Amino acid sequence: MKIAVIHGSPRRGNTLRAAELFLEALKKRGEVEADEFFLPRDLPEFCKGCAACVTRGEEFCPHRQYSGPILDSMLKADALLLTTPVYVMSASGGMKNFLDHYPFLFINHRPRPEFFRKKAFVLSTAAGGGIKSAMKPIATCIKYWGINRVYQKGFRIFALDWDSMPPEKQKKYEAEIDRCAEKFWRAVSKQDSAPTLFVRFYFALCRWMVKNFRNSTPDYRYWQTQGWLDGKPPFVFKRD
Ligand SMILES: Cc1cc2nc3c(=O)[nH]c(=O)nc-3n(C[C@H](O)[C@H](O)[C@H](O)COP(=O)(O)O)c2cc1C
Repeated sequence: MKIAVIHGSPRRGNTLRAAELFLEALKKRGEVEADEFFLPRDLPEFCKGCAACVTRGEEFCPHRQYSGPILDSMLKADALLLTTPVYVMSASGGMKNFLDHYPFLFINHRPRPEFFRKKAFVLSTAAGGGIKSAMKPIATCIKYWGINRVYQKGFRIFALDWDSMPPEKQKKYEAEIDRCAEKFWRAVSKQDSAPTLFVRFYFALCRWMVKNFRNSTPDYRYWQTQGWLDGKPPFVFKRD
């Protein structure tokens, strides 16, 4: 399995530890090739809000030299792993800034057909609270990219770091990570699962919107090139 890993923090801390355990657990099940990016190192500029990516084309993003290679890696991968520590009840600034660089991937703009097959895992750690509110914006955003299935798991450390947790709690978390990896491995192996109802419904709505209201935009030309405006289906999958 090829997996693009976007680390929401440069720290070699709890979140990285959880991500490493997850990747090791995947490796127990077969070959894994991880392409890893650390934020903000690999995307060090803040989104300027120019919206050039949406209105003109993603090649006009002033930070294309950073955002381009990450997108290429995600497109080539079979799966995505996005991680974040909880910062003030939310995702890290680096992770939010990463997401801000890809609004053009939303289904209502120029979704990549590859993403309709891809599974993603969102992983987080917190001292205590805020895991749900940190993971939710990430999961919501990549659902709008058309990601086939999004899995999530967070860990409350209640200690200074991973090694300071009582050994039985560490074991429990390792077992939980192993179970998540098993489920994720099976999901990624199943290449022909239909996208969620949300993705299918939203795609149909966007096809109608783009066809009727978006003439002469990059979005319209993209949808036309894909053949989607002529009724070509974006995904052909076996029924579950
Ligand atoms: C700026 C900052 C804000 C934080 N905010 C929260 C928070 O809102 N809730 C929480 O439970 N932990 C919070 N924490 C603690 C971290 O989420 C927790 O220690 C996490 O496991 C750190 O991951 P890391 O070791 O990968 O950096 C915060 C830590 C930092 C540095």
